[in-house]
Amino acid sequence: MLNLNAEVDPTQEANVDLIKKVHQVNGNTPPALLPKNTWESLQRRPFSKVTDDHYLRQHLVKVSSWCILTQEVADILGRFLQGKSVIEVFAGTGYIAHHLRLAAGLTRREYRAYDNYSTHKEHRGIRYPGVTQKNAFQAPIKSADVVIMTWPAYAANHAERIVKKMRHGQYLIYNGEGYGGCTGNDAFHDYLDSHFLPLNNKNEALYDVHAQHAHIRDQWTIWRKRR
Ligand SMILES: C[S@@+](CC[C@H](N)C(=O)[O-])C[C@H]1O[C@@H](n2cnc3c(N)ncnc32)[C@H](O)[C@@H]1O
Repeated sequence: MLNLNAEVDPTQEANVDLIKKVHQVNGNTPPALLPKNTWESLQRRPFSKVTDDHYLRQHLVKVSSWCILTQEVADILGRFLQGKSVIEVFAGTGYIAHHLRLAAGLTRREYRAYDNYSTHKEHRGIRYPGVTQKNAFQAPIKSADVVIMTWPAYAANHAERIVKKMRHGQYLIYNGEGYGGCTGNDAFHDYLDSHFLPLNNKNEALYDVHAQHAHIRDQWTIWRKRR
């Protein structure tokens, strides 16, 4: 077993090598989850190394996801999802679906994930099992208790279209940036503010255990669509 904390080197190049080593892909199995403190040790680096940060995230986008899912966030979300039916849209590689299914004890039928793999060529990565290749706008959004959406396309109406399709009482788990950020558009954030209520207690707990990529300001939040 690799002792991550012992191996963390303060130089950026070594961190990149280490994260590639621990976040490597083993056949069809997505990389394991890491706890928040491991991500933060790996990311302790000088801010001048912008190009190396970019390189590191490009790697992770291809083998896992655009955001970090720490072990602790997966535990909280897993408890929340237990016994619920789930649809994940824009699911990317399927890394998040894989780990949240395990954390919640849900089957692929209970936790459905969709992506049409239309992402930009330079971001195309691995496709783990458990994601249906389908246009997310044709997914039966209203049939689930919870909709999960992480890093929806920037400056496009994708996120907005999904939340407008949701019915009252449904939950949304969202990971992305806020107004002025690189996920969704202003109409999405306006709609979220006017038609959804944030689950503040849960969101504060998620905030405490989330780890962000360098220069990224995303958060995990849970919302409920209002009557
Ligand atoms: C920025 S990536 C985020 C991927 C993943 N949620 C993550 O956090 O790693 C956006 C994803 O949306 C997918 N996508 C874009 N339009 C779509 C559509 N109409 N239906 C399904 N997936 C779509 C792309 O293929 C891409 O995987």
